[in-house]
Amino acid sequence: MIIGWCFICIFAVVINEVSLDVTLVGFTGSSVVLPCSSTEYDLELQDINVFWRHNGSETIYDLISGKDSVAGQNPRYKNRAQTFPDEYLRGNFSIKLINLTHADAGEFVCLIIHSSDSKQETVLLFINESTVEKRKNSTEPAETESDQRNVLLICVCILVPVIIFLSIACFMIHCRKRTSAPL
Ligand SMILES: *[C@@H]1O[C@H](CO)[C@@H](O)[C@H](O)[C@H]1NC(C)=O
Ligand SMILES: *[C@@H]1O[C@H](CO)[C@@H](O)[C@H](O)[C@H]1NC(C)=O
Ligand SMILES: *[C@@H]1O[C@H](CO)[C@@H](O)[C@H](O)[C@H]1NC(C)=O
Ligand SMILES: *[C@@H]1O[C@H](CO)[C@@H](O)[C@H](O)[C@H]1NC(C)=O
Ligand SMILES: *[C@@H]1O[C@H](CO)[C@@H](O)[C@H](O)[C@H]1NC(C)=O
Repeated sequence: MIIGWCFICIFAVVINEVSLDVTLVGFTGSSVVLPCSSTEYDLELQDINVFWRHNGSETIYDLISGKDSVAGQNPRYKNRAQTFPDEYLRGNFSIKLINLTHADAGEFVCLIIHSSDSKQETVLLFINESTVEKRKNSTEPAETESDQRNVLLICVCILVPVIIFLSIACFMIHCRKRTSAPL
């Protein structure tokens, strides 16, 4: 456990030294926009290649000569990665990742290769459990179930002494009647 934390700390420091541009938190089942933009505004789209990668190697999306390409895309991202072509001319190559799962956590790299130069941006994504789904499914039914159990328990606690008391009373009355009857 401690070793694991040390590893995470060292890992975080190493990433930090390389280039840690953005840190985001996404929720399972929800979506997130991973930002990536170039400051050059007079872009000729046909001169631009953009490569989106996850955890160093997995292909999410490519822009080859300004055109979307899903060739070589890891099946994990099939229909889950969306681009914003209207934004390309403004140098915005952000992508949206939908239906997030825990495996989507990690490091996303966006590499922009322009005819003259290149630029790399890193997004660190953390995935948290969706609180809404949790509440809908597990907590609420559990609460009402335990409520019902509590009501049942209270009923039993009240009813059992009452029944015992009544039976003792009946028994005593019966006995008294029997003993008093012959007199
Ligand atoms: C995203 O999740 C919803 C609900 O779980 C599902 O109906 C939909 O098909 C999923 N979309 C993709 C692209 O996986
Ligand atoms: C890029 O486009 C996305 C999608 O429209 C938007 O959410 C984001 O804010 C844009 N980024 C910039 C720097 O304009
Ligand atoms: C990517 O790396 C993160 C952190 O190391 C990990 O939680 C996640 O499962 C990895 N995902 C894939 C698809 O390799
Ligand atoms: C994500 O989860 C961590 C640890 O469970 C928590 O500290 C953090 O506040 C959460 N972030 C958001 C945005 O809910
Ligand atoms: C949550 O509840 C929905 C229906 O209310 C169900 O379809 C889904 O499978 C449940 N998810 C979990 C994790 O139990």
